[in-house]
Amino acid sequence: MPTYNLKINGKSQEFEASEDTPLLWALRDQLDMVGTKFGCGIGQCGACTVHVDGNAMRSCQMQVSQLDGKEITTIEGLSEDGSHPVQQAWKEIDVPQCGYCQAGQIMTASAFLDKNPNPSAQEIRTAMHGNICRCASYNRIEKAVGIAAKKQVAKVTTVETETKLA
Ligand code: FES
Ligand code: FES
Repeated sequence: MPTYNLKINGKSQEFEASEDTPLLWALRDQLDMVGTKFGCGIGQCGACTVHVDGNAMRSCQMQVSQLDGKEITTIEGLSEDGSHPVQQAWKEIDVPQCGYCQAGQIMTASAFLDKNPNPSAQEIRTAMHGNICRCASYNRIEKAVGIAAKKQVAKVTTVETETKLA
């Protein structure tokens, strides 16, 4: 079986897998990163969403052989301590019910806000549309994305101010 060395959450991760192994299963089975969830396995639910070069991608649809040189981020690497604005917003209004879909929701939301830091309600709804929640926590998800956008802007402004004062 070939050996792969992928950059995941800022670290090189070496593992053996057949070349058609989906990234999702390499994460979960080879690397013990089980925050990324299996939902449908056919690219339809978003539970397995991770970032690949900053874009929200479905890890069940990406083979490990396609990912050489890519920067992969999973829910475990979004922040060291749960301090990412999206994670904070999720906690603030208790978004999850069963929680199963939530890593994928958070990864989709965070990649979206990196590209669109000041979205409208409709843009949030459209961006999150492909992530299924069987507990139907959609209203709280959309609200939390809006809260996270405000937190993210506030964080950037604070860092800019601190940089100017330094
Ligand atoms: Fe990948 Fe559903 S498990 S999209
Ligand atoms: Fe249960 Fe979304 S919180 S599937």
